[in-house]
Amino acid sequence: MTRHFLNLSDAGGDAIAAMLGDALDRKAARQGWPKGRPDSDAPLAGHVLAMIFEKSSTRTRFSFEMAMTQLGGSVIVADAGSMQLGRGESVADTARVLSAYVDAIMLRTDDHAKIEVMAHHAGVPVINALTDLSHPCQIVADLLTIVDHGKALPGLQFAWLGDGNNVLNSIVEAAGLMKFDVRIGCPEGYDPDERFIAQARAGGADISIHRDADEAAAGADVIVTDTWISMGQRGGDAKLAVMMPFQVDAALMARARPEALFLHCLPAHRGEEVTADVIDGPQSVIFDEAENRLHAQKSILRWVFGQL
Ligand code: CP
Ligand code: NVA
Repeated sequence: MTRHFLNLSDAGGDAIAAMLGDALDRKAARQGWPKGRPDSDAPLAGHVLAMIFEKSSTRTRFSFEMAMTQLGGSVIVADAGSMQLGRGESVADTARVLSAYVDAIMLRTDDHAKIEVMAHHAGVPVINALTDLSHPCQIVADLLTIVDHGKALPGLQFAWLGDGNNVLNSIVEAAGLMKFDVRIGCPEGYDPDERFIAQARAGGADISIHRDADEAAAGADVIVTDTWISMGQRGGDAKLAVMMPFQVDAALMARARPEALFLHCLPAHRGEEVTADVIDGPQSVIFDEAENRLHAQKSILRWVFGQL
């Protein structure tokens, strides 16, 4: 059966653990190599990934292209606006056509339903490179960063501060699969998707929602936040004002464990969701996290092709 990666549950906890192990091994094996040199086994030689963007991207775009390069494959990158998709050709027809040309399709889009239609009609694996609902590839990189910094995932306490967005939905989903807990500090009306919370709780994760930022951050091993205004959202001053009590600053970091890590998927807005002293401070691992997008994408790609 074709392996799609629309959400983390499509892979499951065992496969995610395998991805993390593979990513760590491959990362270690090519230390100091030129970045475009393929891994010695070039496991995706001859494979082509189509990358379609309906929204902006820096990390996802470059890391997926470099991931395919290092795995021995190649990519075709297109902004949806330059495709017939951008002038109304259906997602279903696009999926069928591209499946004849390439070995896998990566899509960044707004409505999650579009990527489900893409997967339904594609004869090749489809990878979610961010939708309004979720961002599973980001969270594989986040977990990799935490493990790479010497923390085992089971039993960890994450604290999320700010908007209950796509990134948080995937963190909550990961909690149920990898057995960690998430304390969410967010204003009323900005909670994450209830379906992910229910699924994580069914998986044994403790997911709690707090209207007080200090309460959410207390004793955390990992503090995470993201932009208050995601791509395609209208926010404005009213949303910034309601989010401000959930800003991650030095006082909030002091509520967490002394060895707590600070994560942010980037791009960041210093002075909004996080202060500059925190994001550029000693507990911040944001640039390891960004680098790990590359290593994580490689393992996600190997998984969709049945190699993990
Ligand atoms: N974190 C992330 O997905 O970044 P880009 O939007 O730059 O791809
Ligand atoms: N929540 C953000 C993540 C960007 C990588 C957005 O959707 O814009």
